[in-house]
Amino acid sequence: MNSSLLRRIRTRGSTEQGFLSFFESGNDVPFTIARVYYIYDVPVETRRGMHVHKTLQQVLWCPYGEIEVILDDGNEKKSYLLDSPEKALLVLRGYWHDMYWRKEGSVLCVAASDYYDEADYIRDYDEFLRYAQEGYWDK
Ligand code: TYD
Repeated sequence: MNSSLLRRIRTRGSTEQGFLSFFESGNDVPFTIARVYYIYDVPVETRRGMHVHKTLQQVLWCPYGEIEVILDDGNEKKSYLLDSPEKALLVLRGYWHDMYWRKEGSVLCVAASDYYDEADYIRDYDEFLRYAQEGYWDK
């Protein structure tokens, strides 16, 4: 699995003045951003996600708190801890993802490559494994 899915967000600032982080569609994120959403007021240890997208690509970041994201490509599961506003995680098409809220008040922000479409979701894990084994997401 590609360890470069975890990226450092470009950041400017100082401890005296505070920090500003930013990323740009095309330059830092390998797709055009069509939609932004965010998830908050989630009780600690809640698990969300539990799906894969057929085509959607997303970048996840946590401006406050600690959120663990498990990415699963059907062969291997890898855990990523979003515990800094400077970390971004690319969730490319074909990665089953689970997110666990590890700290109270944690906020998860997401920039996505397309508009919301329930037909793009696979929410059944066995169906995901069948798609992965059939090579649906093979490059
Ligand atoms: P879902 O993607 O299942 O959230 P999570 O993976 O974090 O558990 O979305 C939760 C609900 O919100 C679901 O009913 C779909 C709806 N939704 C939208 O209407 N628009 C959106 O952009 C998103 C991301 C979700």
